[in-house]
Amino acid sequence: VKPLIELATEEQRRILRAATTIASESGVAAWVVGGPVRDALLGKPFGDIDFTLESGAADFAARLSAILGGRIRQFDEFMTLRIDLPSTETIDVATTRAEEYPRPGALPRVRRAGLIEDLRRRDFTINAVALNLVSGSIEDPFQGIADLERGLLRVLHEGSFRDDPTRMFRAARLAARLGFELEEWTAALMREALADEAMDRVSRERRWRELRLAMQEEDPAGALYELASRGTLDSLLGPVHRGALLEHRLAQAATVIAEEPELDGELLLLAALVSGEPDLTGSALNRRRIDSLRMLIDRERVAAAIESSPMGARELASAPEELLALLALDPGLQGAANRERSARRIELPFRGHELDLPPGPHLGRALRDTREALASGTITREQALSFARSRALEYLRGEAS
Ligand code: CTP
Repeated sequence: VKPLIELATEEQRRILRAATTIASESGVAAWVVGGPVRDALLGKPFGDIDFTLESGAADFAARLSAILGGRIRQFDEFMTLRIDLPSTETIDVATTRAEEYPRPGALPRVRRAGLIEDLRRRDFTINAVALNLVSGSIEDPFQGIADLERGLLRVLHEGSFRDDPTRMFRAARLAARLGFELEEWTAALMREALADEAMDRVSRERRWRELRLAMQEEDPAGALYELASRGTLDSLLGPVHRGALLEHRLAQAATVIAEEPELDGELLLLAALVSGEPDLTGSALNRRRIDSLRMLIDRERVAAAIESSPMGARELASAPEELLALLALDPGLQGAANRERSARRIELPFRGHELDLPPGPHLGRALRDTREALASGTITREQALSFARSRALEYLRGEAS
């Protein structure tokens, strides 16, 4: 328990102390299993803490919630209770169970079982290590600690990926996050499951959820590279890039995301992955984001158009910010992309109707030119209105393009 306490945040320490007191007072065995044990053994800080008990989960959760000032929700079908804390952390309290998959890829049916069976139903050996809160003893029936030391992800049984294909996403996430490798037999089982189209038995919505979790990793490029290279994404997205090209595109997306976290990182990463027209069913992307994604995917064509103006002006004007940021990584396009970006940030010192001209595309183009001229310092703010007027007239008369 000591390394767990040492690596815990203030709030996690409060949770662990309260849980340990309740468990020792009521004489029930409570374990911490999964992420926190794995991460603490690796000497890393950890996320949500879950508790697993063979019996008395409801009572344990009620007392824990009372001490911590949380609210309880009960999920009978999964035999778990969830405590929502004011700090927005959540704690799951589960009863040890075995799982059965009514059919591959479906959500499991659960029944009560002992701790060892509960560990056996899990995804990888490194996530199947339990720490007894009161005694501090470790249960490691599948040699998870040895795999942690060797840096290996190993499934616990042959049917693991077939039963729950989302574990293929978890494998990629964990491999990238921890710098681990898939143990040989596990990698072979994954290849078999993919060849068997196991992934198609999971709903597209669930697969998109898993893909998003990978995109939220600290190193999303690494997680996505793992996912794409192993062929986990083809059935969801359609053809995805591979090898050095994929690595390059993901690295570019990661650079932009690191420099400008306010941009739409999900679109940047998706566009780095796919080639051609991706299947977006179940992605819950709205129209505007889909349009932006298409332009991002199509960026070579946009870049070529920009290099051969005048077509480029129109492409630049409609390019999403994410695309401009990407184009700015290319020395040949940096100037044009950055000019467009600064022009967009300029507020004009007059309103469109002050030009006193009939409406039409000439107005939009003139306003655009004016912003650009202001951004580059070619004109002053005082000159802006007359500059815009004369540009609009030129467009109207067909003298400018
Ligand atoms: N688990 C599993 N199969 C899944 C999902 C989860 O066996 N498809 C088990 C694993 O033992 C995992 C535990 O449930 O450790 C808790 O899952 P979760 O909270 O999603 O992941 P963590 O391992 O805690 O890792 P992290 O949150 O750090 O990604």
